[in-house]
Amino acid sequence: IETAMANGPLKGKRILVTSGPTHEPIDPVRYIANRSSGAQGTALARALSALGAEVVFVTGPADVSLPEGVQVVKIETAQQMLEAVQGALPVDAAVFAAAVADWRVAQASNKKMKKDGKGLPSLEFTENPDILATISQMGEGRPDLVVGFAAETNDVIENATAKRQRKQCDWIVANDVSPETGIMGGQENAVTLISDHGADSWPRMSKTQVAKRLAEELAQALTAKG
Ligand code: CTP
Ligand code: CA
Repeated sequence: IETAMANGPLKGKRILVTSGPTHEPIDPVRYIANRSSGAQGTALARALSALGAEVVFVTGPADVSLPEGVQVVKIETAQQMLEAVQGALPVDAAVFAAAVADWRVAQASNKKMKKDGKGLPSLEFTENPDILATISQMGEGRPDLVVGFAAETNDVIENATAKRQRKQCDWIVANDVSPETGIMGGQENAVTLISDHGADSWPRMSKTQVAKRLAEELAQALTAKG
């Protein structure tokens, strides 16, 4: 159990964390989701709060227990997550640990789809808003520090570096989520922090340890910016 440091290095800083998967409806009883457990985002919210930050935690449906002592906003879809994030501004820093669904069903049915004997259903998709890119590219009111995650299964550093450029976030925390690593849904993470200073690969450690180290890096960066 962490106790918030009343005078921690993040005292007076308001920090947003997104976490978990999103659920995108197909009909009232079905949805599309992904394997995010919410563990890394939750650990991060706890670690930031422990350093004294005021944390807003925007989370999709996840089974992990909610972080204590933070403001929790529960959402289901990517569109709702974007609205919740915009509603939480202004913040000093924003960390996007959520595994946002890239696509949603264009026309979710408001009635349960039935096996009516007329063949198989086909789903048409549309792209969800990119929350990280939206916040990274806002002009006035942009958080001082915007941090994304990049879950990759191959060419991790190249892909994540390109992602950072494309989205215009300050830092990307890259991780290898190929099935053989067991990271997706597991207790550990092996990340590379990509910033203006280059790519810094950390040893494999618990998601709690990754969260603590990242929270410390954030504290240093925010303190340096005043
Ligand atoms: N992200 C987001 N909104 C989206 C998609 C992603 O905010 N609609 C954020 C994630 O929370 C993460 C970062 O963007 O911090 C990278 O997510 P990722 O899925 O790796 O990137 P994509 O741009 O969706 O690229 P792809 O899935 O094709 O690799
Ligand atoms: Ca994606």
